[in-house]
Amino acid sequence: MKSVAVAVIALSLFACSEATTGTAAAEPETAAAASPYRLPVSINDVMVALVNDAANPIWMAAWKAPKSADDWKNLERRAYQLQLAGLLIATPGTGALDEKWAAKPAWQQWSNQLRYTGADAVAAVQNRDLIAIANIGDQLVVVCEGCHTDFRLPFPTGGKFGELSPSPSDE
Ligand code: HEC
Repeated sequence: MKSVAVAVIALSLFACSEATTGTAAAEPETAAAASPYRLPVSINDVMVALVNDAANPIWMAAWKAPKSADDWKNLERRAYQLQLAGLLIATPGTGALDEKWAAKPAWQQWSNQLRYTGADAVAAVQNRDLIAIANIGDQLVVVCEGCHTDFRLPFPTGGKFGELSPSPSDE
């Protein structure tokens, strides 16, 4: 809920600054088109190399709690990676459809949701709050599946490296 509120505030701030500068009409329609940045890899590469890898330990923590201080530190790094990955995938890379996807408002919304869910995960890990971590894990599934459904991908996918996300029965 907090994330949604933050997103709404951020959006309205953006809308205000556009209105006051009066340049909105002359600018490209989407944030992606306006971005001078381009990832050196495809969004699919970011999914496999970063998003998937960072999400797995968050899910696993729900049934296999971190024990040592090192475990917690590692989980905190993963949560930060998830937050940052949300920002990365908002930017198109070298994939054939990247530009088309990133230009869609729904894509930007799902990317933001990933980023905010990642931020919530950072806080939950810092608080060592396992119940919050489990809830965030559920929220993550909604975000991953939501975007994959909107952009017509099956989930869970086989993965570029042929991996499926772990489940409690793997233990
Ligand atoms: C903003 C939209 C979006 C979000 C959010 C998102 N994905 Fe993806 N994901 C995609 C798209 C689109 C592809 C396919 C890219 C391609 O084929 O070029 C993909 C591909 C993947 C792949 C690679 C599939 C393969 O066969 O190579 C994995 C793994 C994956 N996503 C996992 C996840 C996980 C786990 C999450 C959530 C923690 C997530 N994704 C969140 C849009 C998203």
